[in-house]
Amino acid sequence: MRYVGLEELTDDMILAQNIKDQYGRVLIMKGARLSPHKREKLKNFEIAGVYIDDSWSADIFIEPAVEEKLIDKSINALKEMNMDEIENCACEIIDKLMGAEDYIHDMESIKAYDENTFEHCIHVAISSVTLGIGLGYNFYRLKNLAIGAMLHDVGKKMVPIEIISKKGKLTDEEMEEVRKHPVYGYSILSSNINVYSSTRGIVYQHHENWDGSGYPRGLKEEAIYELAMVTHICDVYDALISKRSYKEAFKIRSAIDIVLEGDNTMFNPDITKAFFKYVPIYHKGTEVELSNGENALIFKNNRGDMLNPVVKLKSGSLIDLRRSDLGIIS
Ligand SMILES: [Fe+2]
Repeated sequence: MRYVGLEELTDDMILAQNIKDQYGRVLIMKGARLSPHKREKLKNFEIAGVYIDDSWSADIFIEPAVEEKLIDKSINALKEMNMDEIENCACEIIDKLMGAEDYIHDMESIKAYDENTFEHCIHVAISSVTLGIGLGYNFYRLKNLAIGAMLHDVGKKMVPIEIISKKGKLTDEEMEEVRKHPVYGYSILSSNINVYSSTRGIVYQHHENWDGSGYPRGLKEEAIYELAMVTHICDVYDALISKRSYKEAFKIRSAIDIVLEGDNTMFNPDITKAFFKYVPIYHKGTEVELSNGENALIFKNNRGDMLNPVVKLKSGSLIDLRRSDLGIIS
């Protein structure tokens, strides 16, 4: 299976995933052949693309990092702010990812509803735990990280919905309001005695930048809680590759370049380095353009060097980019 952006879908393509609405109801079944009507239907959703099956991608299998059921359970726990359930889900996510350490770099969860804030939070938690495992964190530290990453944007609940869902550019005043969400989040969690201090730390500091240019406090370097820095880079990357009401999804290569630009300014350089070593940034089955102008599909990721995966050409041959002069340009 491979991932195709909404604009590149054509009528003969076969869907490789169920398309569900925000309530989990299946709208278009896996296996359906696309038609003008179905493509129009897809456009009504805030999704960037879908997985399809074809002969080019017939030997690419995508295993979700975390089952849909667990993602749904985690989303419900977040919606209800059920701290016990959030902690249970965090532990289940860690168990699942730790148990898959040998192939974690090749897994991902199928993204369909990018627009969903809760789903974004779960994706950030999954990437953060993947990065934390790479950094050698123990279970206890991973648990703190997962819970904080799941709740990192909880403060957005207190930002007026008209601002959160506004299509188009925010005014300076609206932007100022959005930038209060770490403080709002901290205050929501402060009234709950079941919340760990590490969770509050991540929520409060996940927009602080390594060079002191972040918010709310403009903290710098080691003064920033490490788990907040891990969440920060995963949050930025997931937001870049997701479609939002005010922007299209960035192509992976552009998102990578933006993250690389943030090295040492937005992000702790050690964490940036680990991010590109351990977090599967190129999703399997995504089409990319190589530096020789050929198009290829991401076939397999290389743990330790996520910037240079194995790709599959249209001819069927495989190239390990770690051992090639070719690179991915878009
Ligand atoms: Fe945030």
